Amino acid sequence: MHVPRNQRILLASRPDGLPQPGDFRIVEDALPEPADGQLLLQVLYLSLDPYMRGPMDARKSYADPVPVGGVMEGGTVARVVKSRHPGYAEGEIVLSHTGWQRFALSDGASLRKLDPATAPPSTALGVLGMPGFTGWAGLLNIGRPAAGDTVVVAAASGPVGSMVGQVARIAGARAVGIAGGPDKCAYVRDELGFDAVIDHWAPDFAAQLAAACPDGIDVYFENVGGKVWDAVFPLLNEFARIPVCGLIAQYNDRPGESPGPDRLPDMMREVLKRSLAIRGFIVREFAHQRPQFHEQAARWIAEGRLRYREDIVDGFENAPAAFIDLLQGRNFGKLIVKVSD
Ligand SMILES: NC(=O)c1ccc[n+]([C@@H]2O[C@H](COP(=O)([O-])OP(=O)(O)OC[C@H]3O[C@@H](n4cnc5c(N)ncnc54)[C@H](OP(=O)(O)O)[C@@H]3O)[C@@H](O)[C@H]2O)c1
Repeated sequence: MHVPRNQRILLASRPDGLPQPGDFRIVEDALPEPADGQLLLQVLYLSLDPYMRGPMDARKSYADPVPVGGVMEGGTVARVVKSRHPGYAEGEIVLSHTGWQRFALSDGASLRKLDPATAPPSTALGVLGMPGFTGWAGLLNIGRPAAGDTVVVAAASGPVGSMVGQVARIAGARAVGIAGGPDKCAYVRDELGFDAVIDHWAPDFAAQLAAACPDGIDVYFENVGGKVWDAVFPLLNEFARIPVCGLIAQYNDRPGESPGPDRLPDMMREVLKRSLAIRGFIVREFAHQRPQFHEQAARWIAEGRLRYREDIVDGFENAPAAFIDLLQGRNFGKLIVKVSD
């Protein structure tokens, strides 16, 4: 009889810059047995997210570092395959945080049951999950778009950026997206309905952005940093709001390695002169708004006003390569690994 075994992907070494395949190690061991009050989960989908780069380093980010030899962390959708827990039955589908492994034990805490009849389970990792909620919460609480405002967001084809632009349009604002390459730009404009989109690989990217924002920028939702921030900054209007959500262009920088001279004094002068509101956030700050987000986003999807795209990679063992690709912009939509049928 075939006895399934567990596989886990561990952090083998801390990356020096961009992670390399050798920074990950896959190990195989026996399936754990649930004790009383526990359940055994089989992972169906593993979410790959840019924030996972932070805990690979030893320095503390907003998530604790993963120890070398520890399982890479991450959100998952899983099926209950054995239950010795009164609240869960075999066959139920849950949102969980098992990390990069095929099977895991759980005591039921922090699981959320999913109903596959109302939404495909993978959406709990993207448009209806943490990234979608991040775009919604950061834009509405900090960006506060008003009708007629110009809202700019980069990584616009991804789960955070696509939510930001579409919610901005629902709020009556003008959405300008920034994305990498013609395919992503066509998707952002034609499928997601942004008012304009600029390819950040274009040699005249900054000039194109300025032309697409003739009235300046009222809300810049910061996802990437780097050259995009440089192009956006001169265009910010008085009283512009800047939710700082992510800085993916800098995630692989070594400590103290940020390029260029120190521009902070000049930037602070402009923050003062133009009354700019720059405000960082981690989405868990808005956890209490999650039910409201879920109700709105599910309704907008049903009404055809909110669209999403998933980039599903088949095979657990392909997670490290897919994650390295994500950090270089090679994903197209919410990146998810399909682990089991
Ligand atoms: N604060 C929070 O609580 C929170 C929560 C979730 C996510 N985030 C942040 O939100 C941002 C978007 O996340 P996501 O899950 O929606 O990611 P995503 O869009 O699916 O993927 C990341 C995208 O970033 C762009 N990118 C990668 N490297 C870049 C570079 N060097 N310069 C410019 N763009 C680059 C690429 O898009 P293009 O090819 O189109 O450039 C890439 O596809 C990330 O910074 C993430 O860390 C923050």
